[in-house]
Amino acid sequence: MPKGIYILGIETSCDETSVAVVKDGRQILSNVIASQVDWHQRFGGVVPEIASRKHVELINPALKEAIDQAGIKWSDLDGVAVTYGPGLVGALLIGISAAKAVALKLNIPLLKVNHLLGHIYANFLTGVEIELPVVCLTVSGGHTNLLYFSDLSDYQVLGRTRDDAAGEAFDKIARVLGLNYPGGPEIEKLAREGDELAITFPKPLLDQDDYDFSFSGLKTAVLNYINQFHQKDLTLPIADLAASFQRTIVDILIARLLKAVSKKKVKNVILSGGVAANGRLRELLSEQLTRRQVGLHYPPPILCTDNGAMIASMGYFLYQRGQFSTLELNAVPNLRL
Ligand code: KG4
Ligand code: ZN
Repeated sequence: MPKGIYILGIETSCDETSVAVVKDGRQILSNVIASQVDWHQRFGGVVPEIASRKHVELINPALKEAIDQAGIKWSDLDGVAVTYGPGLVGALLIGISAAKAVALKLNIPLLKVNHLLGHIYANFLTGVEIELPVVCLTVSGGHTNLLYFSDLSDYQVLGRTRDDAAGEAFDKIARVLGLNYPGGPEIEKLAREGDELAITFPKPLLDQDDYDFSFSGLKTAVLNYINQFHQKDLTLPIADLAASFQRTIVDILIARLLKAVSKKKVKNVILSGGVAANGRLRELLSEQLTRRQVGLHYPPPILCTDNGAMIASMGYFLYQRGQFSTLELNAVPNLRL
């Protein structure tokens, strides 16, 4: 095997069991993603107990498949990176145990990755060089954060959500509308048939002089709107509602990002997390940034949702800096940025 640095990445923080091999932090050799989404869909969200059991079943086959698909031998690995938080404790522990076993058996460094930073590093797997400093928006089912990276190892949290995450709002409203989990893609699909300017919803905190987000007031406003229709036995304009709700979230995210771009004077913006897959967000943001001659970067859809490759990519940069974890590593379910 030609030399390079080969990092195994393991991700089990939620409902995907994923293992990947990444060469030199940027080249994906394999990225096995065993999704459990069908198992959770019938309950309208992730059931922690089911997630843990499924990870136990899936982790060993995923490890083997990742090595086979990469066309390498176990002994070619230089390090093993694993998500240690945030996430479901039982789910995280399966990945951490597997990673420790690999590190111990092969006598290679264990690298601990914050899942949220992992999502950001997915941007370095696209083959495009991104010039720093950057402003980065991480929007997932559990988190909404606005960050400033002066270089790859040094970041500052500019703002975060004070209540619900953007993805959580998508999921909750989708559930009330009788759509499948995860709700984001379902709402996006439905929104294409609706008028996004049909209904005006509140945009909390936008008048405040910071970078924080709030989505719970919006969620309540949408729920009230739906209830009014139900009470009067009227047909809900479901496509208009989906489109207007999506547009409101997108407007809030873009307003915060643009403020950060102009204050921090960056030339590039990075999106990460499941909600970054939203086509309307990308479209409207891209229009705004092009006007300002600022570059927009986001991973392809498969790297936007949870995957082992992003964990391996960040693991590579930790490896380069010699930031190894001890084998005492434990899960930190509420880990923050
Ligand atoms: O990052 P992720 O895969 O998992 C974590 O939460 O860490 O993000 C999942 C979230 C879910 O809330 C899902 O509804 C949302 O990302 N999502 C989307 C889209 N695709 C996934 N939200 C809006 N539009 C989408 N196309
Ligand atoms: Zn995630």
